[in-house]
Amino acid sequence: MNAIGTDGLKRQAAEAALAFVRPGMRLGLGTGSTAAHFVELLGAKAREGLELLCVPTSEATRAQAERCGLKLTTLDDYPELDLTVDGADEFDERLRLIKGGGGALLREKIVASASKRMVVIADASKRVATLGAFALPVEIVPFGARSALRRIEAVAQEIGLVGKAAIRLTSQGTPFLTDGGNSIVDCAFGAIPDPEAFAQALDATVGVIEHGLFIGIASSVLVASESGVETLGE
Ligand code: 5RP
Repeated sequence: MNAIGTDGLKRQAAEAALAFVRPGMRLGLGTGSTAAHFVELLGAKAREGLELLCVPTSEATRAQAERCGLKLTTLDDYPELDLTVDGADEFDERLRLIKGGGGALLREKIVASASKRMVVIADASKRVATLGAFALPVEIVPFGARSALRRIEAVAQEIGLVGKAAIRLTSQGTPFLTDGGNSIVDCAFGAIPDPEAFAQALDATVGVIEHGLFIGIASSVLVASESGVETLGE
């Protein structure tokens, strides 16, 4: 813990991301507590007259953006966006990410991939030398979920990753469902030395819809620590 506090650092990263926003932009809005700071700050700018059109990555972000007075649109109306600003569960020096802690990874990846730039905002606790301390979220079809879980464990084992994969539950103990009505498997396999290989293996696994490894998608990571906000990438 530090003097500013983790939430204060998240806010600082979100404030720094405002510098990337220009009038008239079409923006992707991320999901999670760090992204929520950005949505709030952006809402204040919109109320001051900044013209923007936004695509939210979850129903929670949609509700917050509406409350903040942001104008919303869809990828059907605007298939290409200028910028997405989103948080992450982990990032490394090569701007590879683990996302999906909030269960929004599918829409987050679709929206970020439709954007010319993805700016990630994070406090420094998310910075890692090797991805994998955070259990990797994988979105799967609910039908045959336990079979998909076994297939995920098997493909992980083939590339030397061993650990525990579990279907995510809500705090009430019922299966967690994403905004798209899918399940999440959280893969606690420890360090992932070759994220590209694991991403490829997951992409080819029956029942897997998408995974939380974001590789080659983020353009920059704004990292907030006690000593200020550092920009990784361009
Ligand atoms: C949601 C995400 C979030 O960006 C990630 O979980 C980080 O959340 P927070 O900013 O609350 O730490 O990927 O699916």
